Amino acid sequence: MEEFDYKAYIKMVKEYQEKDDPTGWFDNIYKNAKGNYKAVFWADLQASPYLVSWLKENKKIKEKNNACVIGCGVGDDAEALSEFGFKVTAFDISASAIELCKNRYPNTKVNYLVADLFDYPKEWFEKFNVVYECNTIQVLPGDYRKKARKAMSNLIAKDGYILFSCRSRKEGEQEDDIPLPLSKSELDEFINIDGLKEISFLAYDDTQEPSVPHFFAIYQKLI
Ligand SMILES: C[S@@+](CC[C@H](N)C(=O)[O-])C[C@H]1O[C@@H](n2cnc3c(N)ncnc32)[C@H](O)[C@@H]1O
Repeated sequence: MEEFDYKAYIKMVKEYQEKDDPTGWFDNIYKNAKGNYKAVFWADLQASPYLVSWLKENKKIKEKNNACVIGCGVGDDAEALSEFGFKVTAFDISASAIELCKNRYPNTKVNYLVADLFDYPKEWFEKFNVVYECNTIQVLPGDYRKKARKAMSNLIAKDGYILFSCRSRKEGEQEDDIPLPLSKSELDEFINIDGLKEISFLAYDDTQEPSVPHFFAIYQKLI
């Protein structure tokens, strides 16, 4: 497998961000993988263990069974939700990512779709009982992060949940990083601006990247 050129990657992301097209580059990553999901450098190739344990501990939730995976990448989290009995809509802005998922899981029950978090179908508004997001906000700059958070909250049905996984940073630190991890106060905007209730909040070190601290948080829409 070709070695991943991290410097070239950062340069490309910056170029797209500078021309105010911060989502224009994602498809390049999947296109360059040439249909090989193992070549997508950010893919863990397994569902989040935090998502899976929550699903095991909360079996009743699937009775209200619409789930959505945002920026689904190569599909592991979407497939896990489907295996737990959810009717899953999994979307990504990258057409190559969606094609890769469909080829990887030819018999899938997941509805894989090309869609943009900033412009998704109106029918998705408050439709989903469980929304899963992993590492999408952190690849977006500036106000796009706030817009993304709002768009995510708008997908959640009344009483529904968002499970949110991301790299973390301390307040005021790493502000020029790409990807830019989230601070606790950014996550708190789900509560303070969108009116969600924090159900759990975990700061942890990822087993696949032990040097990178992460957050895994769950919020519920009660109003
Ligand atoms: C860092 S990757 C994470 C992928 C996957 N969630 C994972 O954990 O492996 C971010 C994903 O979000 C997708 N994405 C970025 N902006 C998006 C948008 N506006 N709408 C939908 N998907 C988006 C990208 O194409 C990419 O697949």
